[in-house]
Amino acid sequence: MALVLGLESSCDDTAAALVGSDRAILAHALAGQNEAHRPFGGVVPEIAARAHVEILPELIRRVLSEAGKTIGEVDAVAATAGPGLIGGVMVALLAGKGLALATGRPLIAVNHLEGHALSPRLVDPELEFPYLLLLVSGGHCQLLEVRRVGEYRRLATTIDDAAGEAFDKAAKLLGLPYPGGPAIETLAAQGDPHAVPLPRPLAGSGEPHFSFAGLKSAVQRAAASGEHRPADIAASFQQAILDCLVDRTKLALERTNARTLVVAGGVAANARVRAALERLAIDEGRSFAVPPAWLCTDNAAMIAWAGAERFERGLTDPLDAPARARWPLDAQAEKVRGAGVKA
Ligand code: KG4
Ligand code: ZN
Repeated sequence: MALVLGLESSCDDTAAALVGSDRAILAHALAGQNEAHRPFGGVVPEIAARAHVEILPELIRRVLSEAGKTIGEVDAVAATAGPGLIGGVMVALLAGKGLALATGRPLIAVNHLEGHALSPRLVDPELEFPYLLLLVSGGHCQLLEVRRVGEYRRLATTIDDAAGEAFDKAAKLLGLPYPGGPAIETLAAQGDPHAVPLPRPLAGSGEPHFSFAGLKSAVQRAAASGEHRPADIAASFQQAILDCLVDRTKLALERTNARTLVVAGGVAANARVRAALERLAIDEGRSFAVPPAWLCTDNAAMIAWAGAERFERGLTDPLDAPARARWPLDAQAEKVRGAGVKA
């Protein structure tokens, strides 16, 4: 059994975790920054980077003490090396390099997207390759065929905003607090999902890519018109997003023989979104899996686990591994115009 320390700071969550290659999660700690970014309605990179520096050492001490381990007992140090906000990415990566150097243990520079992609395997040893992963968060909106550790085929990405980003922008337009997803979901429960006509960008198009910018503009017009109840706009917006997610994922499922659809990312916390995707998987004759909510959103256990999977296969990195703002999981994927908020 290898013990891996995982570190994450690529967006607005600072996290550390100790995970075993036997899937034991010994300890995990996370500090969010929603309060710090709330006045700005979105993540401010400089505020995020400074907050990571302030909190990460404490989180590392906390997970070691909770697990009753010393840093000398760690077999490998895994840190997110991208993609993400570069000032933030550097915090965990440099901390990881320092610890690797001090302990003489190997560094594993983890792609944050690989962390999400492999996270369902941490809690489900039975999950077979290949599976189709819909990764829907504030920074990512991708469909990935996960073939095995280190081999990913990107079937789709967003040509503009990520789905969570669309939730956040729509919430801002409706005067709701950041992060917008949970606020929209709550308000939508009192609204009519068919009250406001909104577009389904790219629905029915030949490639399973996503687009949400036009939806945001339509919400802006609906809110400015004064003709609709905010709850109806929220419910109609949520319905439009989930219709797009279902339509695009259905097309991707037709292009893979993956037997399981896995959904991860903050938007997977939305009960309506989860239910609609589960229905789709059943209709398409596939299994459905969603990791527990805390593992779906950004965390360090998934980084430690991706590190453990790589470590066991001898995939370690030199101490000059670069921090990368952009780092596609599938280098062969064709470039999509405007794509890649973070990837
Ligand atoms: O995975 P995550 O915690 O961080 C990254 O972006 O990587 O995802 C956060 C995103 C935010 O955009 C937030 O609005 C969205 O997930 N989100 C939701 C819900 N909870 C969080 N979107 C829709 N419904 C929710 N219940
Ligand atoms: Zn993420």
